[in-house]
Amino acid sequence: MIVLRQWADGDWPLLVRLNAPEMTEHLGGPESEAALSARHKRYVASAESPLVHSLAAVLEPEGVAVGSISLWEREWQGMPVYEMGWAILPEYQGRGLATAAVKECVELARGLGRRSEVHAFPSVENVPSNAICRKAGFELIGPVNFEYPKGHWMDCNDWRLSLG
Ligand SMILES: CC(C)(COP(=O)(O)OP(=O)(O)OC[C@H]1O[C@@H](n2cnc3c(N)ncnc32)[C@H](O)[C@@H]1OP(=O)(O)O)[C@@H](O)C(=O)NCCC(=O)NCCS
Repeated sequence: MIVLRQWADGDWPLLVRLNAPEMTEHLGGPESEAALSARHKRYVASAESPLVHSLAAVLEPEGVAVGSISLWEREWQGMPVYEMGWAILPEYQGRGLATAAVKECVELARGLGRRSEVHAFPSVENVPSNAICRKAGFELIGPVNFEYPKGHWMDCNDWRLSLG
């Protein structure tokens, strides 16, 4: 079972592990220490923000933080939407944990009631992430050239889930 909780200062070692080369293969590669530290601060601060929700995925009953999931507000093709992103540590992959976390985060987005749809933009080559979108009920809109992180362009799929 997976439980989502606010990102905490003590989650820094988790973020470092999620920044490994094998974890960021479809995300433009590892970020620099400075960029990662800035990301950690943003994640911790997101507890106070209505616009961004950066959460740790905690495996229960073990109580181990095994991944991250984020939900943030953005404009996409002129529409205000949510975007979502996720990652699970290698030794916990393949157990349905990311899919469960995404489903839970979709319900969080629905409950917030600020935007009417959620998008995710996995690389077209990211087989598990595209499978997660399909299993969590997203609809495949089609391929898009997508910038992530800033300055790095990828061939991604645009997946959309209506919260209505
Ligand atoms: C993407 C990621 C979060 C998947 O986590 P996970 O907990 O293993 O995902 P799930 O167990 O929920 O599995 C999702 C689906 O992908 C499949 N899958 C998992 N690993 C796979 C692999 N290496 N190759 C092919 N399919 C795979 C699973 O079988 C499952 O599909 P199925 O139920 O139809 O069989 C994880 O691989 C990861 O953290 N990757 C690096 C970060 C990343 O790319 N994030 C996504 C950015 S959009």
